[in-house]
Amino acid sequence: MEKEKFYITTPIYYPSAEFHIGHCYTTIIADAIARYKRLTGYDVFFQTGTDEHGEKIEKKASEAGVTPKEYVDKIIANAKDLWEKLDITYDYFIRTTDKEHEEAVQKIFKKLYDQGDIYKGEYKGLYCVPCESFWTESQLVDGKCPDCGRDVKEVSEEAYFFKLSKYQDRLVDFYDRNPEFILPLSRKNEMLNNFIKPGLEDLCVSRTSFTWGVPVSFDTKHVVYVWIDALSNYITSLGYPDENSEKFKKYWPADIHLVGKEIVRFHTIIWPIMLMALGVELPKQVFGHGWLVLNGGERIAKSAGNYKDPREYINSYGVDAVRYYALREVSFGSDGVFTEEALINRTNTDLANTLGNLVNRTISMSHKYFDGIVLNPNVSEELDGELINSTLALKEKVEEKMNSLKVNEAIIEIMEVLKKCNKYIDDTMPWVLAKDESKKDRLATVLYNILESVRICSILLSPFIPTTSEKILEQLNTSKTSYDTVSNFGLLELNIKLNNPEVLFARIVKD
Ligand code: MSP
Repeated sequence: MEKEKFYITTPIYYPSAEFHIGHCYTTIIADAIARYKRLTGYDVFFQTGTDEHGEKIEKKASEAGVTPKEYVDKIIANAKDLWEKLDITYDYFIRTTDKEHEEAVQKIFKKLYDQGDIYKGEYKGLYCVPCESFWTESQLVDGKCPDCGRDVKEVSEEAYFFKLSKYQDRLVDFYDRNPEFILPLSRKNEMLNNFIKPGLEDLCVSRTSFTWGVPVSFDTKHVVYVWIDALSNYITSLGYPDENSEKFKKYWPADIHLVGKEIVRFHTIIWPIMLMALGVELPKQVFGHGWLVLNGGERIAKSAGNYKDPREYINSYGVDAVRYYALREVSFGSDGVFTEEALINRTNTDLANTLGNLVNRTISMSHKYFDGIVLNPNVSEELDGELINSTLALKEKVEEKMNSLKVNEAIIEIMEVLKKCNKYIDDTMPWVLAKDESKKDRLATVLYNILESVRICSILLSPFIPTTSEKILEQLNTSKTSYDTVSNFGLLELNIKLNNPEVLFARIVKD
């Protein structure tokens, strides 16, 4: 039977400076969802990439004395290395400087122009260079950019515009018919109240003030300005405008565009309208997540420069500690504080104590009492039932949480079962059973139940902390590692010999 497809994207990041933990946050979540979908049997296409054109990059490159392409190439090499270190399993990395993308953008622009959705006019506006954003007078805060607080400059130039207003009613109608298109729901109301109800303004889609961009094919002093170039990445990577390309037919429409809250607007207004104008089906869902902020609430941002290279955290605490923190700490959709101290605490409590300790002591006891051989004489007691039932209920609970993108809650469910395993050890006291020869079979049953629960939890943890999950399954020496084995308790093979226990997470002690 053919697998069902699942297409998930991250935003394409601006390579204006090296990436920080905020970019990692989006990408780790997308990776976890992609891995979960693969685990559960989908044919996944997971895309990330970079948004490389624009005045800011042109300026940065000239300051650095290199060409814009040289400038971005270096940052992209670095970003790809970062994604590798974070075990990000993207299927495709799109760059807006890819030749196929640039040609597709020119065709899209021309089609919209030919059918009258793009027209030539004059652009007057207030522009913030570091944020690459245009603002209206009323959006400024104390006369400055509302995002970064810096000066904005007035610009006036001939430009092309995209008729968003023409599609406004169709967009609202689409929202009504697709109540889950924008999540969380609060963001949908924000779009309707702040942007759509006041009336959509036509969007400026070209520039003549800089040259680092895709030239408008029929008027080459213009370059295509940001959003038409950037947003179309989600289809150009699939071969669009060739709507008959294999990838386009198979993967479009996207199932989830995962984006930060400040760019929900572009993905839920401009992007659907672009697609409507092109006659292409709309994506199924746009999910707007919150930001990672510093303790005082300040957003971690390239323009603020308030961050470390994420590799420093990976080197100090391990890749899964960083992944786990990003996935577990923040309620998805809300902002969350990122500090190194919180990362350490979270690693210690959940990964070193709850998970690491459990695996270590269970495997150690199995070695100590049974030479590491897995046995199950089935000497059950009533309290086994609770552990077994909560382990068996886990698959469905995780599925329900993941389907509504409550990734942190899915992880909490798994951690709850691991905590139950720890409690089960405290209640059954294997070290006491071990002293009594007549309790040997009970002891073996107790250890079996924990090992089996650990096996199932490890498989379910694999989308989130893949390296650790693999290490645990390796220590268990089991071949029962596929998703379909998590619905049965008792599949861990009998008479196999466990590998030696290895510490998964050493407790981090920091002054
Ligand atoms: N290039 C555009 C996106 C185009 S998508 C067609 C862009 N790039 S960006 O590099 O500025 O930001 C990319 C993503 O990173 C956004 O979704 C943004 O929310 C996310 N993050 C940037 N800083 C962040 C935090 N501090 N925390 C969480 N996510 C953050 O916008």
